[in-house]
Amino acid sequence: MTSSTFPYISLYALHYQLQTPYLPTPTRVARCMLQLAEAKPGELVVDLGCGEGNVLIAAAKYFKCRCVGIEIDPRLAKRAKKRAEEEGVEDLVEIIMGDLFLYDLSSADIVTLYLLPKTIRLLQYKLAEELKDTAKVVSHDYPLENTPPAKVAKIKSYSPIHTHKVFLYYAKDLKRFQRSSPT
Ligand SMILES: C[S@@+](CC[C@H](N)C(=O)[O-])C[C@H]1O[C@@H](n2cnc3c(N)ncnc32)[C@H](O)[C@@H]1O
Repeated sequence: MTSSTFPYISLYALHYQLQTPYLPTPTRVARCMLQLAEAKPGELVVDLGCGEGNVLIAAAKYFKCRCVGIEIDPRLAKRAKKRAEEEGVEDLVEIIMGDLFLYDLSSADIVTLYLLPKTIRLLQYKLAEELKDTAKVVSHDYPLENTPPAKVAKIKSYSPIHTHKVFLYYAKDLKRFQRSSPT
């Protein structure tokens, strides 16, 4: 596994990171996200704010995807790297300690998100600008704004008061709705 560190982490990103608590996506939800996106061996999955790497480990282990995770919290980034090694998928998983807003998304086939709505709102322009037309975005629990999802899945949670939701978007739709939405 290789890992690298962005030289600059903006104060702006740190501010948002402080407001985005770490909550892992359970493996069965991660698998559902990747199934919904029809992940294929060799495709590049990018998890923006990868935490301890749950989504990436599922993508590498069960779908044989190449994976990149961006995580601003150094302890979580370190843990994600260690877990990928423990799971024997370190050749497929790269963890970058840094700000997700600085990562170039142009090579991603699938982008996975489990971020708060305020972060997603800020990210939408970047997704529409940088993703290739064939790319897909899958978001856990929080939908994107002003763009209808192509597919939605619901997964029972162990908590009686919560059902996991997964929203799938095609990049070409994000671009179309971004162009037509008021600024
Ligand atoms: C709800 S957790 C999701 C973790 C993982 N994606 C998963 O689904 O298991 C959100 C993660 O995003 C990270 N994060 C928040 N803002 C970030 C930023 N600007 N750059 C990189 N990571 C960020 C947080 O540190 C946290 O680990």
